[in-house]
Amino acid sequence: MALPEHAAPGHTIRRLWPGDRPAVLDYFLRLDPETRANRFMGAVGEAGVRAYAERAVTAEGLVVGAFVDGVLRGLGELRPSGGPRSGFMLGAEAEAAFAVEREFRRRGIGTALFGRIARAARNRGVGTLHVRCLDRNKPMLRLAAKLGADLHRGARETRGDLRLVQATPFSLWYEGIAEAYDFTLSVIQPAIPEENAA
Ligand SMILES: CC(C)(COP(=O)(O)OP(=O)(O)OC[C@H]1O[C@@H](n2cnc3c(N)ncnc32)[C@H](O)[C@@H]1OP(=O)(O)O)[C@@H](O)C(=O)NCCC(=O)NCCS
Repeated sequence: MALPEHAAPGHTIRRLWPGDRPAVLDYFLRLDPETRANRFMGAVGEAGVRAYAERAVTAEGLVVGAFVDGVLRGLGELRPSGGPRSGFMLGAEAEAAFAVEREFRRRGIGTALFGRIARAARNRGVGTLHVRCLDRNKPMLRLAAKLGADLHRGARETRGDLRLVQATPFSLWYEGIAEAYDFTLSVIQPAIPEENAA
């Protein structure tokens, strides 16, 4: 199944680079406590969020952001399942995580981020993409199911498994072009701080 990768007009979805680190930090610090708890599957204090946000873009894996009027409002992350330095190997498994600021939900951003992360995972040889969330997290459960993930319910959390089709020469070529475009965009249109938003 081809996953949608485009949000509404006026929204930009692109890969994030080390130069986006200040915007990523601001974004994580803006998340309300409930969103943070759902994203990290438990309560995380400001210091913990700050430490995580500082490393998010440079840690292993990759991060995709959703911009609305130039401000980062949503984030999708792809991480190898094997922990630090495990990398992505052919047929390997990987983890995805998402969060969209509350006022910007239900306009397709979560779907578009999921689509971009799945495409990036596929082109890095990932065979199965996992997404974990708390059992009561209906929006994430619905989103994962809608995009074709098999849901495995546990005592406290649910894991969604999305099987990815193998990369092709065309999908690899397309990924390379899209990343080069994203990098150029990050240089010519850097993220703007929320206080400067229109
Ligand atoms: C899960 C989340 C990322 C979805 O983001 P979003 O931008 O609102 O998602 P979309 O607008 O693309 O919605 C996609 C689908 O998700 C489901 N969904 C989203 N919000 C929902 C809600 N409040 N209730 C029920 N289903 C919901 C629907 O199936 C929806 O499709 P539809 O609009 O065609 O019905 C967002 O709710 C969020 O950031 N939650 C907090 C963080 C979190 O829980 N992360 C998951 C753990 S990694």
